Amino acid sequence: MNERVVSGISQEEDHSIDNSLRPKRLSDYIGQTRLKTNLEIAIAAAVQRQESIDHILLHGPPGLGKTTLGNIIAAERGVSIKVTSGPAIERPADMVSILTRLQQGDVLFIDEIHRLPRIVEEVLYSAMEDFVVSWVIDKGLKARSMNLAIQPFTLIGATTRYGMVSSPLRDRFGSAYRLEFYDNESMREIIRRSARILEIEADEDGIREIAARSRGTPRIGNRLLKRVRDYAQVVADNLITGHIAKDALTKLEVDYLGLDDTDHLVIRSIIEKFQGGPVGLNTLAASISEDADTITDVYEPFLLQIGFLDRTSRGRVATRQAYDHLGIDYPENDRSKDQPNLF
Ligand code: ADE
Repeated sequence: MNERVVSGISQEEDHSIDNSLRPKRLSDYIGQTRLKTNLEIAIAAAVQRQESIDHILLHGPPGLGKTTLGNIIAAERGVSIKVTSGPAIERPADMVSILTRLQQGDVLFIDEIHRLPRIVEEVLYSAMEDFVVSWVIDKGLKARSMNLAIQPFTLIGATTRYGMVSSPLRDRFGSAYRLEFYDNESMREIIRRSARILEIEADEDGIREIAARSRGTPRIGNRLLKRVRDYAQVVADNLITGHIAKDALTKLEVDYLGLDDTDHLVIRSIIEKFQGGPVGLNTLAASISEDADTITDVYEPFLLQIGFLDRTSRGRVATRQAYDHLGIDYPENDRSKDQPNLF
C-alpha cells in the first residue's frame, strides 16, 4: 500500500518529530476533557495515599494519544515507564522478566494488549491482582510452580479493539476509558500548538483548513501540518494560509472531510459492487485488496463517526450521506435496506 497521509498508524519517519509534539504533562494535553478530569483525580488520590495508580485500560481508534497519555500518567506520578506491545511479548518468561524488573509504582504500558498471547496474559492476572508472578520450573514429575512477589506497579493497557480484550484481563483493570475523536476546536488548538513548536508560520485560516481535514486525530493533523509546510516552503514563502493549505491537501488527495482515496474506495465499493450493502467485512476487504483488521481499526471508525457507514447484523451499509458525498444518486425506491433483518 502507498504511504497513507491520513493513516492513524504511526510511521517511522515521524517518530522523533512526533515525540517533540507530544504533550508531556496533563495540563498541556488538549481535549478528552472527561478522561482528563478522571485521570487527575486518580493520580492525585494515588499520590496522597502514596500508592500506585490502579490499572488503566485505554481504548479507541489509533492516533488519538493513548501512548502519550501513558507517558503523561507516569510523569505526573513521578515514576518510570516501560513501553512494550502485545505481539512483542511472545513467551511467559519475557513477561516475568519485565514484571520483576519494575520498580515500585512504575508504569508498564502495553500497546495492542488484545494481541498478547493467552499464556503470556495469564502471567499478568496474579501480577495485576496481588503483585505476584508465578511460573512453572522444571519439567515432568519435577515440575513445580514458583511464586515471586513483585513491586506494586500500574499496568496501562492500550487497544484499538476493546471487544478483543479477554474478560479475565478486562476485569482486572480498575478503570477503562475510551478516547474519542477530537472536536474541531480541540484539533485547531493542537495544530496551533504543533505549528508553534515546529516554528511553522500559519494563519488562522490555514490552521482551520488543516484541522478540518484531520479526522479528529492529532497524529493525522500533525502529519498534514508537516506536508502542508513542505508545500508552503516551496510555493509560498513559508506562510500557511487557508488557500495554501487547501491547495496542498487537495494535491495530497485529502478531501475537505479528511477522507482520502482509500476511504473513497471503501465507500464506492460498498455502493457500486454491493448495491450499498449490507456487505460482510471479509467480502468488502477482499474486494478492495485491503486487510480486514485495517478496515476495522483505521477506516471504519471515522466513517461511522461521520455517519457514512452503518454496521448492521448483516454487514456494512453505506448511508445517504455517503452517496451524496460521492455524488451518486441514493436509490430511493430500494427499500431492502430499511427492512428488518428477518433471518
Ligand atoms: N498532540 C497529540 N495529542 C495531543 C493532545 N491531546 N493535546 C496536545 N497535543 C497533542
